[in-house]
Amino acid sequence: MVIISPSILSADFANLERDIKLVEKAGANWLHIDVMDGHFVPNITIGVPVTSSIKKIASIPLDVHLMIENPEKYVEPFAKAGADILTFHYEAAKDVTEIIKLIKSFNIKAGMSIKPKTPVDVVFPYLNDLDLVLVMTVEPGFGGQKFMADCAEKIPFIKKNAPESLIIQVDGGINAETARICTSYGANSLVAGNYIYKSNDISLAIKSLR
Ligand code: DX5
Ligand code: ZN
Repeated sequence: MVIISPSILSADFANLERDIKLVEKAGANWLHIDVMDGHFVPNITIGVPVTSSIKKIASIPLDVHLMIENPEKYVEPFAKAGADILTFHYEAAKDVTEIIKLIKSFNIKAGMSIKPKTPVDVVFPYLNDLDLVLVMTVEPGFGGQKFMADCAEKIPFIKKNAPESLIIQVDGGINAETARICTSYGANSLVAGNYIYKSNDISLAIKSLR
C-alpha cells in the first residue's frame, strides 16, 4: 500500500474546502499541509489557525510538514490544531530525541525530514523512534520544482536500516514516473502537489502514483 498525500500548497486557497473534498473523493489517504515560516525556507504559507479550520472539514488524516525554525515550539499548537502526523526538519531541530518524544506525547505520528544536501546517515540513530522519515527531492520552499533523482537514492539506505513499520515518504517533483523510481527504492508514501492539482483527472493522477 502506498500512502498518497496530496499537498494543498498547489490547491486554490480561496476554495480550500472544495479542493480538499476533491482529493478525498479521488482516493487520497492523507492531506499534506506545508507549513513555512519565511526563515527556514524563503516562503510563508499555512499556520496553526488554517490547520485547525482544515481539521473541521477534512475526513482524512492531516500530514503536517513543518518547514520552520524552532519546530519544538510549535509541536503542541499543531498537535492541538489536529495534526495526525507531524514532521519536522532535522536541520532545524535542536534536540531530535526530545522533539520526537514531545510529538509522541500527543499520541500522533512523529516524522523527520531531511533536505537534499543533508546526508542520509543523520537519520539512522532515530529510525526506531520515528514513525516516518521524509526524504525531500527538491529544496523545500515551493511547489512545482524538478525532482532531484540523486536525493531519491537515499531511500534504499533508509529502507535497509529501518524497522518494517517505518513509513518512508518522498516530497518534491513527484509524478507517475518519479513515483515509480521512489517506490522501487522502498518508499511507501508519496507527497504530490502540482501533479495532482494541475491534472484534469485527479482520480487518475492519484491512481497513476500508486
Ligand atoms: C515543497 C513542499 C512540497 C510541495 C510539493 O517545499 O514541501 O510538499 O508542495 O509540490 P510538488 O509536488 O509540486 O513538487
Ligand atoms: Zn511538503
